[in-house]
Amino acid sequence: TEISVPGAMLLPGLIDLHAHLREPGQEYKEDLVSGLAAAAAGGFTDICAMPNTRPVNDTRAITEMLVHKSRAIGGTRLHPIGAITLGQKGDTLTEMADLKDAGAVAVSDDGHCVTRSDVMRRALEYSSTFDLPLIQHCEDHALTAGAQMHEGAVSTKLGLRGWPRVAEDVIVARDIILAEYTRAKYHIAHVSTMGAVRILREAKSRGINVTAEVTPHHLLLTDAALIGYDTACKVNPPLREDEDLLALRDALADGTIDCIATDHAPHSPLEKDCELSEASPGMIGLELCIPLMLGLVNKGVLPLARMVDALTRAPSKIAGLPRTEIKEGAEANLTLVDPAASWTVSADRLRTKSKNTPFLGQTVTGKVVLTIVSGTVVFDATTKPA
Ligand code: DOR
Repeated sequence: TEISVPGAMLLPGLIDLHAHLREPGQEYKEDLVSGLAAAAAGGFTDICAMPNTRPVNDTRAITEMLVHKSRAIGGTRLHPIGAITLGQKGDTLTEMADLKDAGAVAVSDDGHCVTRSDVMRRALEYSSTFDLPLIQHCEDHALTAGAQMHEGAVSTKLGLRGWPRVAEDVIVARDIILAEYTRAKYHIAHVSTMGAVRILREAKSRGINVTAEVTPHHLLLTDAALIGYDTACKVNPPLREDEDLLALRDALADGTIDCIATDHAPHSPLEKDCELSEASPGMIGLELCIPLMLGLVNKGVLPLARMVDALTRAPSKIAGLPRTEIKEGAEANLTLVDPAASWTVSADRLRTKSKNTPFLGQTVTGKVVLTIVSGTVVFDATTKPA
């Protein structure tokens, strides 16, 4: 078959290191079928699923279920991320060899809240035994209790309890020291503060094995978006201030931050149409990543080559996934993007079950038109209206 989309860009298949697909347990927000459909529509050939499901993915059985079920569904490939510890607040490490054997590509504290240094040290030592990267959420819970948003002038104005930057910075600093000590592969999830960027940059200059990701929303929005108490803008870590946003953009552009990850976090209307203090944190991201990031490219903030690297080669290296290349004879894992197509973000255009995004109603430029996984078309908008 011949496909012709004038002006389109052909990219290696996109990889998302950080998505919440909610299965098992919270299928009313998202399930594997809807989550993988959203991923394919967003141009992702591979996504890594965070373990904060119900139950948490802390066993071989859940990891195997995710692998088998997602393969049966087909389309975008799912790579499970196992939990670091057993149980929601446990300090007993999971059987990481089993998790890896069943298909996990990393382990993470997501949903487990590992802030104890002794547990982190053991987890880093143990994960490095199996060459599994450890993805940390970097939040000192003692400093974020009751926080609804970033701590600053806006939180004071709104009368809401804030989450200080240092809650992230202290964990990033400590864990980098522990990662250096244990020689583990340490990955920082959704960096959000200028302080964390500074610490990361210094660690990388010393050759420590640390990597990091940033989300589209932390690159585009600040806490000013919460002035109307918009629950769609409540997210962990919170939207910060201009100086953080600028530091994140610089760090992504110069490669200090390795990759872009969506932190796709679907929530139902029940969890968002309520008081800000009651609302669940998180926003959807899979289908908006490409247009939002192309917006930064078009503004001259992010070099196109860096955007592509941050969504393909960099995450594949961190998760140990085969690198997809565009060349004759290679298995086709490809994403075709029309960079000039404009469209308005609306609930009925999104494949994800949940519609919690502050970008609803906005007109964006850049559209995924085709996604191919292992030579099979898994998303095709070439024949449908843009
Ligand atoms: O805002 C967030 N929501 N941040 C996270 O790290 C988790 C996510 C979720 O699972 O809803």
